[in-house]
Amino acid sequence: DTVDWDPEDAGKGEYDHYMRKEIHTQPTALANTIEGRIKDGDVAFEDLPAGSFEDVECVQFVACGTSYHAAMYGGQLVREAGIRTEVLRASEYESTSGPVDENTLAVAVTQSGETADTLDAVRTAADRGARTLAVTNVVGSTAAREADDAVYIRAGPEVGVAATKTYSSQAVTLTLLSQRIAGDVPTATAADDRAAMLEALADLPQQVETVLETSEAEPLAADTIDSESFFFIGNGPAHSVALEGALKFKEITYEHAEGFAAGELKHGPLALVTGKTPVFAVATGDADGKTKTNAIEAKSRGAPIVAVGPDDHPLVDIADAHLSVPDTHPVWTGLLANVQLQLLSYHAATQLDRPIDKPRNLAKSVTVE
Ligand code: G6P
Repeated sequence: DTVDWDPEDAGKGEYDHYMRKEIHTQPTALANTIEGRIKDGDVAFEDLPAGSFEDVECVQFVACGTSYHAAMYGGQLVREAGIRTEVLRASEYESTSGPVDENTLAVAVTQSGETADTLDAVRTAADRGARTLAVTNVVGSTAAREADDAVYIRAGPEVGVAATKTYSSQAVTLTLLSQRIAGDVPTATAADDRAAMLEALADLPQQVETVLETSEAEPLAADTIDSESFFFIGNGPAHSVALEGALKFKEITYEHAEGFAAGELKHGPLALVTGKTPVFAVATGDADGKTKTNAIEAKSRGAPIVAVGPDDHPLVDIADAHLSVPDTHPVWTGLLANVQLQLLSYHAATQLDRPIDKPRNLAKSVTVE
């Protein structure tokens, strides 16, 4: 007798889908990402000792899809340090890049290290004189081999087409990288609360575990699934989380979902808002004033509002439902909110009986332009 044996199924363990497994193994993935990256209260990257970035005057992040959202998340901190920063969609690099010279650091953010658009963008940056750095999950990938330097996110293999754990590991790695770059560039100003930020990171894997154990995303998905469109809003650091929440949702549920900068809602998308368009408002900290006022606008047009953030956030007071995240340093709150949104997409797609790990028309790694 023979048994039908699919090696990919073996890798799923107790989980129905790789995506679920990858969401649930994020505490371990993050612990690996962080391991050894903080030494004596400072950020440490092997092969990139302190001072490696002292000539950097401009940082360009290039990426696609989920990696682009992680680049937005991490890139924000480089900008805040006072360093010229561009976060560019790799496929638009040719037409949107600012000037490049040898003091430009082009950072290719790519889980697989094989995305054609990203490889093309970073090659163009190198041709124009930039120094290049790959931030990737795959050792020996094309991006890692071609770039001047490589930093590995160490999330472990990801099989589900919809990226989950690699987003979290990318966002953490890029946030740490931002601190390393800011520490090296003489004109940059390190974040005042950098020590608190690094200290809070040690608790992040456990806090992700708390979200996984206590999430109300499954019943909320059931309550909202019968809607016309799903909107995700956020401002400041939460904007990229809103974009990622919407991308994940559309990728695996096939429902219409859009992410917006909260303040843009009233400049067009508000025309679509009705009682059948739930609005997921991502709350990460002090910069959320626009999210609250725009969520109130949507609520007054009948939209159910879901606050995704800490319990004591003012958005919770005006929301119809709440996906709660533990208190941490504000720089990490968006990551915890994103885990709630991963679960929301997963449960909504499961309830709709979608294929989850291999959504129609999509590939894990797109090697054509
Ligand atoms: C594809 C995948 C996305 C991914 C993007 C970038 O479109 O479906 O999930 O975010 O490629 O992939 P990369 O390997 O460069 O991060």
